[in-house]
Amino acid sequence: MLELNVCIGTSCHIKGAYNVIQTFQQMIEEKKLHDKINFKSSFCMKECAKPGVSVSVGGEKRRVPAEEAREFFNTVVIGKI
Ligand code: FES
Repeated sequence: MLELNVCIGTSCHIKGAYNVIQTFQQMIEEKKLHDKINFKSSFCMKECAKPGVSVSVGGEKRRVPAEEAREFFNTVVIGKI
């Protein structure tokens, strides 16, 4: 089961965390990955100063601009399943 977390702290919220969450949820739905991905939101990952929304995928911290969420999911997230 792949752990996938999106930060919903203030800074990431402003940078579009809500859109990233919506996109990831949609992709999990579309690709029927509920049994392969444990998707949760998380509190501040202490990476607020960096650009993009903080995402942790399989324990690895990444930064995802909201407009690249779909591409990130298709490459990085799918690549780790
Ligand atoms: S608010 Fe997301 S890393 Fe701090």
